[in-house]
Amino acid sequence: MESLSGKVALITGAGSGIGRGTALHAAAEGMHVVVADIKNSDGVAEEIKAAGGSATAAAIDTTDDGAWGLLVDQITRDHGGVDLLVNNAGIVQPVDNAASTSNEDWARIVGVNQTGYFYGMRAVIPGMIERGGGAIVNVASVAGLVGMLNVFTYAATKGAVIAMSKQAAIEYAGSKIRINVICPGIIETPILGDITPELKAYCESQTPLARLGQPLDIGAMAVHLARPESSFITGQVIAIDGGWTAQ
Ligand SMILES: NC(=O)c1ccc[n+]([C@@H]2O[C@H](COP(=O)([O-])OP(=O)(O)OC[C@H]3O[C@@H](n4cnc5c(N)ncnc54)[C@H](O)[C@@H]3O)[C@@H](O)[C@H]2O)c1
Repeated sequence: MESLSGKVALITGAGSGIGRGTALHAAAEGMHVVVADIKNSDGVAEEIKAAGGSATAAAIDTTDDGAWGLLVDQITRDHGGVDLLVNNAGIVQPVDNAASTSNEDWARIVGVNQTGYFYGMRAVIPGMIERGGGAIVNVASVAGLVGMLNVFTYAATKGAVIAMSKQAAIEYAGSKIRINVICPGIIETPILGDITPELKAYCESQTPLARLGQPLDIGAMAVHLARPESSFITGQVIAIDGGWTAQ
């Protein structure tokens, strides 16, 4: 495979879980990684550097449009631009139903999971056009593909991310910017909270490959989508869920 060495990856929500796994993998593949998170970006950037990789920490709230502009300008000054954006920072509410979700919770979840992704795409696309291309990976969820219980707003945002990504993929294909979506199934990360052994066993029993996913299962695909070998892939929605949505 062609090397990603020297390319620049900007990964949101990289202080934990899937984002952290993606950041570690991108760095191991030789990319310079901008570890962007509202918290713990320093910790993961230090972890990458301790392993011999190249990283900078960026404390950012992805719902802050102005912060996106400043961050991308800084990356452009320091490293020439962004080759891969992974929009991954996301939140979920434990119980979230159409009849009971408050306006505040709706706005908060839409803000991070949908508007933050829009701000990210809008911030990097002009630079990618100037540089002759780039890759964007938007992390959605299987909740954007099939119905699930108690994740009403979350599912709405994930479905919206899929639609936004397809729109942008065809709009910017002519500029060689490839935009794809990964829909993780159940991945073992802090977002699951304190999952009980019983619930974990149930989730495994519902998954054809009979295990929960790990952050690297997602991170490896996100990084692969930045490779030249993926240059004919855009506007696609890739479920990485152990076969769960194939049932
Ligand atoms: N873990 C799963 O089972 C699963 C399944 C499907 C989809 N996903 C999606 O994967 C993505 C990552 O989730 P995870 O499981 O790694 O969760 P996580 O809670 O471990 O990590 C999410 C990260 O996002 C950061 N974040 C939250 N709000 C932010 C903001 N406004 N600005 C910047 N950073 C912010 C958090 O600080 C955290 O570090 C999310 O979009 C989530 O919806 C996860």
